[in-house]
Amino acid sequence: MRLLVTGGAGFIGSNFVHYLYKERPDWHITVLDKLTYAGDEKNLAGLDASRFKFIKGDICDEATVDKAIASCEAVVHFAAETHVDNSLHGPDPFVYTNVVGTYQILEAVRKYDKRLHHVSTDEVYGDLQPGSPEKFSEETPYNPSSPYSATKAASDLLVRAWIRSYNIKATISNCSNNYGPYQHVEKFIPRAITNVLEGQKPKLYGKGANIRDWIYTQDHSSAVLMILEKGKIGETYMIGANGEKTNQEVLEMILELMGKPKDWYEHVADRPGHDLRYAIDATKIRSELGWTPTYTDFKRGLSETIEWYKNNREWWQPQKAATEEKYKKLGR
Ligand code: NAD
Ligand code: DAU
Repeated sequence: MRLLVTGGAGFIGSNFVHYLYKERPDWHITVLDKLTYAGDEKNLAGLDASRFKFIKGDICDEATVDKAIASCEAVVHFAAETHVDNSLHGPDPFVYTNVVGTYQILEAVRKYDKRLHHVSTDEVYGDLQPGSPEKFSEETPYNPSSPYSATKAASDLLVRAWIRSYNIKATISNCSNNYGPYQHVEKFIPRAITNVLEGQKPKLYGKGANIRDWIYTQDHSSAVLMILEKGKIGETYMIGANGEKTNQEVLEMILELMGKPKDWYEHVADRPGHDLRYAIDATKIRSELGWTPTYTDFKRGLSETIEWYKNNREWWQPQKAATEEKYKKLGR
Protein backbone atom coordinates (compact mmCIF):
# COMPACT_ATOMS: atom_id res chain seq x y z
CA MET A 1 0.00 0.00 0.00
CA ARG A 2 1.25 3.47 -0.90
CA LEU A 3 -0.70 5.84 1.34
CA LEU A 4 -0.83 9.62 1.14
CA VAL A 5 -1.56 11.39 4.44
CA THR A 6 -2.45 15.09 4.18
CA GLY A 7 -1.80 17.16 7.30
CA GLY A 8 0.49 14.42 8.62
CA ALA A 9 2.77 16.91 10.40
CA GLY A 10 -0.03 18.13 12.69
CA PHE A 11 -1.30 16.69 15.97
CA ILE A 12 -3.62 13.86 14.90
CA GLY A 13 -1.95 13.31 11.53
CA SER A 14 1.50 12.72 13.02
CA ASN A 15 0.10 10.42 15.71
CA PHE A 16 -1.65 8.50 12.90
CA VAL A 17 1.56 8.25 10.85
CA HIS A 18 3.52 6.86 13.84
CA TYR A 19 0.70 4.41 14.60
CA LEU A 20 0.54 3.23 10.99
CA TYR A 21 4.33 2.96 10.68
CA LYS A 22 4.25 0.51 13.59
CA GLU A 23 1.06 -1.36 12.66
CA ARG A 24 1.64 -1.74 8.89
CA PRO A 25 5.40 -2.23 8.36
CA ASP A 26 4.93 -3.11 4.68
CA TRP A 27 3.15 0.17 3.80
CA HIS A 28 4.81 3.23 2.32
CA ILE A 29 3.58 6.55 3.76
CA THR A 30 3.86 9.94 2.08
CA VAL A 31 2.90 13.04 4.06
CA LEU A 32 1.72 16.18 2.23
CA ASP A 33 1.73 19.15 4.60
CA LYS A 34 2.03 22.92 4.22
CA LEU A 35 3.73 23.24 7.63
CA THR A 36 1.52 26.04 8.91
CA TYR A 37 2.01 27.23 12.50
CA ALA A 38 0.28 23.93 13.50
CA GLY A 39 2.56 21.57 11.58
CA ASP A 40 6.12 20.56 12.41
CA GLU A 41 8.29 18.16 10.43
CA LYS A 42 10.00 17.21 13.72
CA ASN A 43 6.76 15.42 14.67
CA LEU A 44 7.74 12.85 12.04
CA ALA A 45 11.35 12.37 13.14
CA GLY A 46 12.81 8.88 13.15
CA LEU A 47 10.89 7.45 10.18
CA ASP A 48 13.01 5.52 7.68
CA ALA A 49 13.28 7.01 4.19
CA SER A 50 12.64 3.58 2.63
CA ARG A 51 9.10 3.65 4.03
CA PHE A 52 8.38 7.34 4.39
CA LYS A 53 8.48 10.52 2.32
CA PHE A 54 7.63 14.11 3.24
CA ILE A 55 6.30 16.65 0.73
CA LYS A 56 5.96 20.26 1.82
CA GLY A 57 2.97 21.60 -0.08
CA ASP A 58 -0.45 23.21 0.03
CA ILE A 59 -3.60 21.14 -0.56
CA CYS A 60 -5.12 24.19 -2.27
CA ASP A 61 -2.50 23.91 -5.01
CA GLU A 62 -3.96 21.83 -7.83
CA ALA A 63 -0.65 20.72 -9.38
CA THR A 64 0.83 19.63 -6.03
CA VAL A 65 -2.25 17.64 -5.10
CA ASP A 66 -2.57 16.10 -8.55
CA LYS A 67 1.02 14.86 -8.51
CA ALA A 68 0.85 13.50 -4.96
CA ILE A 69 -2.41 11.64 -5.55
CA ALA A 70 -1.32 10.24 -8.92
CA SER A 71 1.47 8.33 -7.20
CA CYS A 72 -0.42 6.85 -4.24
CA GLU A 73 -3.10 4.16 -3.87
CA ALA A 74 -5.16 5.78 -1.14
CA VAL A 75 -5.44 9.08 0.73
CA VAL A 76 -6.25 9.86 4.36
CA HIS A 77 -7.13 13.54 4.49
CA PHE A 78 -6.39 15.26 7.83
CA ALA A 79 -5.10 18.63 6.57
CA ALA A 80 -7.22 21.50 7.88
CA GLU A 81 -7.25 24.70 9.85
CA THR A 82 -8.56 23.40 13.16
CA HIS A 83 -8.80 25.96 15.96
CA VAL A 84 -12.24 27.45 16.66
CA ASP A 85 -10.87 30.60 18.35
CA ASN A 86 -8.64 31.33 15.33
CA SER A 87 -11.59 30.84 12.98
CA LEU A 88 -13.66 33.39 14.90
CA HIS A 89 -11.00 36.06 14.46
CA GLY A 90 -9.65 35.15 10.99
CA PRO A 91 -11.88 32.81 8.97
CA ASP A 92 -10.01 33.27 5.68
CA PRO A 93 -7.56 30.31 5.80
CA PHE A 94 -10.38 28.08 7.06
CA VAL A 95 -12.39 28.70 3.89
CA TYR A 96 -9.38 28.08 1.65
CA THR A 97 -7.84 25.03 3.29
CA ASN A 98 -10.94 23.28 4.56
CA VAL A 99 -13.20 23.91 1.55
CA VAL A 100 -10.99 24.64 -1.48
CA GLY A 101 -8.28 22.22 -0.28
CA THR A 102 -10.79 19.39 0.12
CA TYR A 103 -12.20 20.21 -3.33
CA GLN A 104 -8.71 19.80 -4.86
CA ILE A 105 -8.28 16.44 -3.10
CA LEU A 106 -11.67 15.29 -4.38
CA GLU A 107 -10.95 16.28 -7.96
CA ALA A 108 -7.62 14.42 -7.98
CA VAL A 109 -9.15 11.36 -6.32
CA ARG A 110 -11.87 11.39 -8.97
CA LYS A 111 -9.39 11.80 -11.85
CA TYR A 112 -7.15 8.90 -10.71
CA ASP A 113 -9.89 6.74 -9.13
CA LYS A 114 -8.16 6.52 -5.73
CA ARG A 115 -9.55 5.51 -2.34
CA LEU A 116 -10.15 8.46 0.05
CA HIS A 117 -10.84 8.65 3.75
CA HIS A 118 -11.92 12.13 4.85
CA VAL A 119 -11.29 12.99 8.50
CA SER A 120 -13.88 15.27 10.04
CA THR A 121 -15.25 16.41 13.36
CA ASP A 122 -18.34 16.10 15.55
CA GLU A 123 -18.54 19.93 15.54
CA VAL A 124 -20.36 19.82 12.19
CA TYR A 125 -23.50 18.77 14.11
CA GLY A 126 -23.63 21.87 16.31
CA ASP A 127 -24.21 21.18 20.00
CA LEU A 128 -26.42 19.23 22.43
CA GLN A 129 -28.05 20.27 25.70
CA PRO A 130 -26.12 19.27 28.83
CA GLY A 131 -28.09 16.62 30.74
CA SER A 132 -30.04 15.37 27.71
CA PRO A 133 -29.69 11.69 26.75
CA GLU A 134 -29.15 12.70 23.10
CA LYS A 135 -25.86 11.98 21.29
CA PHE A 136 -24.59 12.70 17.76
CA SER A 137 -25.04 9.86 15.30
CA GLU A 138 -24.46 9.42 11.56
CA GLU A 139 -28.06 10.63 11.01
CA THR A 140 -27.80 13.88 13.01
CA PRO A 141 -28.49 16.91 10.76
CA TYR A 142 -25.60 19.31 10.15
CA ASN A 143 -25.84 22.53 12.18
CA PRO A 144 -22.36 24.07 12.53
CA SER A 145 -21.78 27.05 14.86
CA SER A 146 -18.35 28.52 14.06
CA PRO A 147 -16.45 29.35 10.86
CA TYR A 148 -14.26 26.29 11.66
CA SER A 149 -17.17 23.87 11.93
CA ALA A 150 -19.02 25.46 9.00
CA THR A 151 -16.02 24.94 6.72
CA LYS A 152 -15.56 21.35 7.96
CA ALA A 153 -19.29 20.77 7.32
CA ALA A 154 -18.83 22.19 3.81
CA SER A 155 -15.93 19.80 3.20
CA ASP A 156 -18.03 16.81 4.37
CA LEU A 157 -20.87 17.85 2.06
CA LEU A 158 -18.47 18.09 -0.88
CA VAL A 159 -17.26 14.56 -0.13
CA ARG A 160 -20.86 13.29 0.11
CA ALA A 161 -21.71 14.95 -3.23
CA TRP A 162 -18.62 13.50 -4.96
CA ILE A 163 -19.59 10.04 -3.66
CA ARG A 164 -23.13 10.33 -4.93
CA SER A 165 -22.51 12.13 -8.23
CA TYR A 166 -19.13 10.71 -9.26
CA ASN A 167 -19.04 7.40 -7.35
CA ILE A 168 -15.66 8.16 -5.79
CA LYS A 169 -14.47 5.51 -3.32
CA ALA A 170 -14.66 7.58 -0.16
CA THR A 171 -15.56 7.26 3.51
CA ILE A 172 -15.97 9.98 6.16
CA SER A 173 -15.42 9.92 9.91
CA ASN A 174 -16.60 12.46 12.49
CA CYS A 175 -14.60 12.22 15.69
CA SER A 176 -14.86 13.96 19.06
CA ASN A 177 -12.17 15.94 20.93
CA ASN A 178 -8.74 14.30 20.79
CA TYR A 179 -6.00 14.64 23.40
CA GLY A 180 -2.46 13.26 23.65
CA PRO A 181 1.12 14.11 22.61
CA TYR A 182 1.99 16.67 19.89
CA GLN A 183 -1.18 18.75 20.35
CA HIS A 184 -0.60 22.48 19.81
CA VAL A 185 -0.49 24.64 22.96
CA GLU A 186 -3.43 26.71 21.68
CA LYS A 187 -5.83 23.82 22.52
CA PHE A 188 -7.44 23.46 25.95
CA ILE A 189 -5.60 20.49 27.51
CA PRO A 190 -2.05 21.36 26.33
CA ARG A 191 -2.64 25.03 27.11
CA ALA A 192 -3.66 24.21 30.67
CA ILE A 193 -0.78 21.76 31.22
CA THR A 194 1.87 24.12 29.82
CA ASN A 195 0.45 27.07 31.77
CA VAL A 196 0.94 25.08 34.98
CA LEU A 197 4.45 24.08 33.88
CA GLU A 198 5.22 27.79 33.36
CA GLY A 199 3.76 28.79 36.73
CA GLN A 200 0.72 30.49 35.13
CA LYS A 201 -2.88 29.77 36.12
CA PRO A 202 -4.86 27.91 33.41
CA LYS A 203 -7.89 29.68 31.92
CA LEU A 204 -11.46 28.43 31.95
CA TYR A 205 -13.88 29.91 29.40
CA GLY A 206 -17.17 31.15 30.88
CA LYS A 207 -18.48 28.97 33.70
CA GLY A 208 -16.57 25.87 32.56
CA ALA A 209 -19.80 23.90 32.20
CA ASN A 210 -19.33 23.11 28.48
CA ILE A 211 -18.93 19.40 27.83
CA ARG A 212 -16.52 17.69 25.43
CA ASP A 213 -16.33 13.94 24.67
CA TRP A 214 -12.59 13.16 24.99
CA ILE A 215 -10.79 10.41 23.08
CA TYR A 216 -7.09 9.55 23.24
CA THR A 217 -5.60 10.27 19.83
CA GLN A 218 -4.28 6.71 19.36
CA ASP A 219 -7.86 5.44 19.52
CA HIS A 220 -8.76 7.87 16.73
CA SER A 221 -5.85 6.44 14.70
CA SER A 222 -7.00 2.84 15.15
CA ALA A 223 -10.54 3.80 14.10
CA VAL A 224 -9.33 5.61 10.95
CA LEU A 225 -7.16 2.65 9.95
CA MET A 226 -10.08 0.28 10.49
CA ILE A 227 -12.38 2.41 8.32
CA LEU A 228 -9.71 2.65 5.61
CA GLU A 229 -9.36 -1.13 5.51
CA LYS A 230 -12.85 -2.38 6.35
CA GLY A 231 -15.22 0.59 5.99
CA LYS A 232 -18.05 0.46 3.49
CA ILE A 233 -17.54 2.87 0.59
CA GLY A 234 -19.87 5.86 0.77
CA GLU A 235 -20.47 5.54 4.51
CA THR A 236 -19.93 7.91 7.44
CA TYR A 237 -18.69 6.64 10.82
CA MET A 238 -18.85 8.46 14.16
CA ILE A 239 -15.76 7.96 16.37
CA GLY A 240 -15.93 8.48 20.13
CA ALA A 241 -14.97 6.74 23.37
CA ASN A 242 -17.70 7.76 25.88
CA GLY A 243 -15.42 10.38 27.43
CA GLU A 244 -17.86 13.18 28.32
CA LYS A 245 -16.51 15.68 30.87
CA THR A 246 -17.17 19.33 31.68
CA ASN A 247 -14.21 21.63 31.06
CA GLN A 248 -14.12 22.34 34.79
CA GLU A 249 -13.82 18.59 35.55
CA VAL A 250 -10.95 18.26 33.06
CA LEU A 251 -9.14 21.27 34.49
CA GLU A 252 -9.55 20.09 38.09
CA MET A 253 -8.14 16.69 37.11
CA ILE A 254 -5.11 18.31 35.41
CA LEU A 255 -4.49 20.46 38.51
CA GLU A 256 -4.80 17.46 40.83
CA LEU A 257 -2.40 15.38 38.69
CA MET A 258 0.07 18.28 38.63
CA GLY A 259 -0.06 18.84 42.39
CA LYS A 260 -1.95 22.16 42.40
CA PRO A 261 -5.07 23.17 44.37
CA LYS A 262 -8.19 22.33 42.36
CA ASP A 263 -9.26 25.99 42.16
CA TRP A 264 -5.87 27.23 40.87
CA TYR A 265 -7.28 28.68 37.63
CA GLU A 266 -8.86 31.87 36.26
CA HIS A 267 -12.27 32.34 34.67
CA VAL A 268 -11.94 34.29 31.41
CA ALA A 269 -14.38 35.66 28.84
CA ASP A 270 -16.42 33.00 27.09
CA ARG A 271 -15.94 32.04 23.42
CA PRO A 272 -18.64 33.65 21.22
CA GLY A 273 -21.19 31.05 20.08
CA HIS A 274 -19.54 28.48 22.40
CA ASP A 275 -20.96 24.99 21.76
CA LEU A 276 -22.45 23.58 24.97
CA ARG A 277 -22.00 19.85 24.68
CA TYR A 278 -20.69 17.22 22.27
CA ALA A 279 -21.39 13.49 22.70
CA ILE A 280 -20.84 10.64 20.27
CA ASP A 281 -22.89 7.51 19.68
CA ALA A 282 -20.25 5.19 18.20
CA THR A 283 -22.55 2.16 17.86
CA LYS A 284 -22.07 1.86 14.10
CA ILE A 285 -18.26 1.59 14.03
CA ARG A 286 -18.32 -0.68 17.08
CA SER A 287 -20.97 -3.07 15.80
CA GLU A 288 -20.28 -3.05 12.04
CA LEU A 289 -16.47 -2.90 12.07
CA GLY A 290 -15.72 -4.26 15.56
CA TRP A 291 -13.71 -1.18 16.68
CA THR A 292 -13.18 -0.54 20.38
CA PRO A 293 -11.11 2.16 22.09
CA THR A 294 -8.14 1.08 24.23
CA TYR A 295 -7.67 4.23 26.34
CA THR A 296 -10.89 4.17 28.36
CA ASP A 297 -9.27 5.49 31.56
CA PHE A 298 -9.26 9.28 30.99
CA LYS A 299 -7.20 9.98 34.09
CA ARG A 300 -4.46 7.61 32.91
CA GLY A 301 -4.45 9.12 29.40
CA LEU A 302 -4.31 12.60 30.89
CA SER A 303 -1.46 11.70 33.21
CA GLU A 304 0.55 10.23 30.28
CA THR A 305 -0.16 13.42 28.31
CA ILE A 306 1.07 15.58 31.21
CA GLU A 307 4.27 13.47 31.36
CA TRP A 308 4.80 14.00 27.62
CA TYR A 309 4.54 17.81 27.93
CA LYS A 310 6.85 17.73 30.99
CA ASN A 311 9.44 15.77 29.01
CA ASN A 312 9.14 17.68 25.74
CA ARG A 313 9.50 21.30 26.72
CA GLU A 314 11.70 22.03 23.69
CA TRP A 315 8.79 20.95 21.47
CA TRP A 316 6.16 23.34 22.87
CA GLN A 317 8.15 26.19 24.41
CA PRO A 318 8.87 28.03 21.10
CA GLN A 319 5.12 28.41 20.42
CA LYS A 320 3.97 29.21 23.95
CA ALA A 321 4.64 32.95 24.33
CA ALA A 322 3.17 33.89 20.92
CA THR A 323 0.08 31.75 21.59
CA GLU A 324 -0.54 33.40 24.98
CA GLU A 325 0.01 36.84 23.42
CA LYS A 326 -2.74 36.07 20.90
CA TYR A 327 -5.08 34.95 23.68
CA LYS A 328 -4.29 38.07 25.72
CA LYS A 329 -5.52 40.26 22.85
CA LEU A 330 -8.78 38.27 22.82
CA GLY A 331 -9.21 38.61 26.59
CA ARG A 332 -9.02 34.82 26.96
P1 NAD B 1 -3.67 20.43 13.55
O1 NAD B 1 -4.09 21.86 13.45
O2 NAD B 1 -2.84 19.99 14.69
O3 NAD B 1 -2.87 20.02 12.21
C1 NAD B 1 -3.30 20.37 10.93
C2 NAD B 1 -2.19 20.02 9.95
O4 NAD B 1 -2.64 20.39 8.63
C3 NAD B 1 -0.88 20.80 10.19
O5 NAD B 1 0.23 19.95 10.06
C4 NAD B 1 -0.88 21.86 9.09
O6 NAD B 1 0.42 22.27 8.70
C5 NAD B 1 -1.61 21.13 7.97
N1 NAD B 1 -2.23 22.05 7.02
C6 NAD B 1 -3.01 23.13 7.29
N2 NAD B 1 -3.37 23.75 6.16
C7 NAD B 1 -2.81 23.05 5.14
C8 NAD B 1 -2.82 23.19 3.73
N3 NAD B 1 -3.47 24.20 3.13
N4 NAD B 1 -2.15 22.28 2.98
C9 NAD B 1 -1.48 21.26 3.58
N5 NAD B 1 -1.43 21.08 4.90
C10 NAD B 1 -2.08 21.97 5.68
O7 NAD B 1 -5.02 19.61 13.44
P2 NAD B 1 -5.49 18.27 14.19
O8 NAD B 1 -6.07 18.63 15.49
O9 NAD B 1 -4.40 17.28 14.09
O10 NAD B 1 -6.71 17.85 13.23
C11 NAD B 1 -6.49 17.03 12.08
C12 NAD B 1 -7.82 16.73 11.43
O11 NAD B 1 -8.67 16.05 12.34
C13 NAD B 1 -8.59 17.98 10.98
O12 NAD B 1 -9.21 17.70 9.75
C14 NAD B 1 -9.63 18.19 12.07
O13 NAD B 1 -10.76 18.84 11.59
C15 NAD B 1 -9.91 16.75 12.45
N6 NAD B 1 -10.39 16.56 13.85
C16 NAD B 1 -9.70 17.09 14.89
C17 NAD B 1 -10.12 16.82 16.19
C18 NAD B 1 -9.36 17.35 17.40
O14 NAD B 1 -9.82 17.16 18.52
N7 NAD B 1 -8.24 17.99 17.24
C19 NAD B 1 -11.26 16.02 16.40
C20 NAD B 1 -11.95 15.52 15.30
C21 NAD B 1 -11.49 15.78 14.02
O1 DAU C 1 -14.86 18.16 18.80
C1 DAU C 1 -13.77 18.06 17.96
C2 DAU C 1 -13.04 19.38 17.89
O2 DAU C 1 -12.36 19.54 19.13
C3 DAU C 1 -12.06 19.48 16.74
O3 DAU C 1 -12.79 19.42 15.53
C4 DAU C 1 -11.27 20.79 16.79
O4 DAU C 1 -10.31 20.82 15.76
C5 DAU C 1 -10.57 20.84 18.13
O5 DAU C 1 -9.86 22.07 18.27
C6 DAU C 1 -11.58 20.70 19.27
O6 DAU C 1 -12.44 21.87 19.33
P1 DAU C 1 -12.82 22.57 20.73
O7 DAU C 1 -13.20 23.96 20.46
O8 DAU C 1 -13.75 21.71 21.51
O9 DAU C 1 -11.37 22.45 21.45
P2 DAU C 1 -10.50 23.48 22.35
O10 DAU C 1 -9.33 22.69 22.82
O11 DAU C 1 -10.26 24.77 21.67
O12 DAU C 1 -11.46 23.75 23.59
C7 DAU C 1 -12.03 22.69 24.34
C8 DAU C 1 -12.99 23.31 25.33
O13 DAU C 1 -12.26 24.04 26.34
C9 DAU C 1 -13.94 24.32 24.73
O14 DAU C 1 -15.20 24.20 25.38
C10 DAU C 1 -13.30 25.68 25.03
C11 DAU C 1 -12.63 25.43 26.36
N1 DAU C 1 -11.37 26.18 26.65
C12 DAU C 1 -10.42 26.24 25.68
C13 DAU C 1 -9.21 26.86 25.92
C14 DAU C 1 -8.13 26.96 24.86
C15 DAU C 1 -11.14 26.70 27.91
O15 DAU C 1 -12.02 26.63 28.81
N2 DAU C 1 -9.95 27.30 28.17
C16 DAU C 1 -8.95 27.41 27.25
O16 DAU C 1 -7.88 27.95 27.55
